[in-house]
Amino acid sequence: MNKKIAVLPGDGIGPEIIEEAVKVLKAIEKKFNHQFEYNYGLIGAAAIDDSGNPYPDATHELCLQSDAILFGAIGDPKYDNDPTAKIRPEQGLLKMRSSLGLYANIRPVKSYDALLDASPLKNDRIKDVDFVVIRELISGIYFGMPRGRNEDRTAAYDTCTYTKEEIIRITEKAFQFARNRKKKVTLLDKANVLETSRLWRETVTEYAKQFPDIELECNYIDSAAMEIITKPRKFDVILTENLFGDIISDEASVIAGSLGILPSASLGDTIGLFEPIHGSYPQAAGKNIANPMATILSAAMLLEYSFGMMSESRAIVEAVDRAMKENFVTEDINNGKYSTSEVGDKIVEFILAV
Ligand code: IPM
Ligand code: MN
Repeated sequence: MNKKIAVLPGDGIGPEIIEEAVKVLKAIEKKFNHQFEYNYGLIGAAAIDDSGNPYPDATHELCLQSDAILFGAIGDPKYDNDPTAKIRPEQGLLKMRSSLGLYANIRPVKSYDALLDASPLKNDRIKDVDFVVIRELISGIYFGMPRGRNEDRTAAYDTCTYTKEEIIRITEKAFQFARNRKKKVTLLDKANVLETSRLWRETVTEYAKQFPDIELECNYIDSAAMEIITKPRKFDVILTENLFGDIISDEASVIAGSLGILPSASLGDTIGLFEPIHGSYPQAAGKNIANPMATILSAAMLLEYSFGMMSESRAIVEAVDRAMKENFVTEDINNGKYSTSEVGDKIVEFILAV
């Protein structure tokens, strides 16, 4: 198959981890006889430095002309330390998600036997955990209007809005996932306090009536934040709004043993964007120490979700599993001894070996 991939390395460790994922995709091309075309674009602080715009039109055009997008990370400390900065790298990512209509963020979380000791949680708690967080990505408090400050800047406000339509389209995705998994959806909300959460609960409960074979559970986000580490095996598909999904998915990464191994997909009705859930880890930038596995696993999700290449995707996942088992890992896991590029090379070797 011939496919075009937009590659957006972004900031911090972005370029290094993306290089490893592209290396792995090239191995897949070779092994399975495909042709992928890689077209690079700017986003985030790198794009601000270049043109003042964190999501330039040229990058948007590139995404529209591609079959899928592979993205590294965004964020630069020079903006974090300046609360008055008008333009911030993160706006690039938010603008890309919103202008491409990527409303469904899929974040699988599972524990790996080889990494049980890498998690600070007890082994018997996290063994065999396997769930997926489906986070609404382009509405809620991240995008609601109005937002801003009062005149003398001593008060600030953000607005959380959701429409029924926005809730239904993400609920459909969650139920599709549940159908192919353990047939359970857990909605996380704050319906005891928030009106938007009550609309979510009402809409999702109504929707679920059409599918009696799928169990729907509604939980409060605060209590779920506790259960996700005390009883993580109870979850199968977690459905939630933008901000709650952001927070709960970082928390859930503790189960996997490292933030450096969790991939994600952001899907709309057309194109998909694939990226690690971690940030730009600026302290590690340029040192060849960051874990490339989350980005490599994101490339595996890209092959599966955007190109329907199941065996190709599985080949990557199996090679990453093997690298973990044989301890070819970076320092974030069990004090691993390998560099970013050495881990990438090992994964390529494992893919080509079978
Ligand atoms: C994420 C990130 C982003 C978010 C930031 C970088 C805007 O934390 O993808 O989870 O909050 O959505
Ligand atoms: Mn986040």
